[in-house]
Amino acid sequence: MNREEAFDSVKDNVENGNLVKHMLATEAIMRALAGRFGEDEEEWGLTGLLHDIDVELTEGDMNSHSKLGADLARELGASEAMAHAILCHNETHGVPLETKLDKTLFCTDPLTGLIIAATLVRPDKKLAGLEAKSVKKKFKEKSFAAGASREQIALCSEIGFELDEFIELGLAAMKGIAADLGL
Ligand SMILES: [Fe+2]
Repeated sequence: MNREEAFDSVKDNVENGNLVKHMLATEAIMRALAGRFGEDEEEWGLTGLLHDIDVELTEGDMNSHSKLGADLARELGASEAMAHAILCHNETHGVPLETKLDKTLFCTDPLTGLIIAATLVRPDKKLAGLEAKSVKKKFKEKSFAAGASREQIALCSEIGFELDEFIELGLAAMKGIAADLGL
């Protein structure tokens, strides 16, 4: 599977533009983290890009979500490591996070939502002027973008990141694809 095939499949299976953007943002951060760790940027990026491919197909059924996604990813040619990371990012299944890839997807997923929400409350609604310190402030406001699990983001400690550094890297990665995100 190359990146184009993966993205085509995302577009075939996901109508909601915001969900597609969430997956693009996750991809961008996963690529940056893979680069930092000396891991396979393509494998990690595509794991992020594909991780929620089944959200519309599973129609909110959390018992199916990410099981189907892992199967779809395998059909596209994803490695078992990628499929496992996709499967266990939904805690419903009780599949433990084992690898660094698993843990990285898990803590990156909600970070994108926090950063997008922090962007959308800016007057210009643009990522360019958003500073990491503003995102950190929003992190501490529990009621802000409450769906972005702070506990889950804080698990960046499991991959050796301080929260501040994790937010900085995630923000920079998302700024790099701001045009694709429309932000
Ligand atoms: Fe997600």
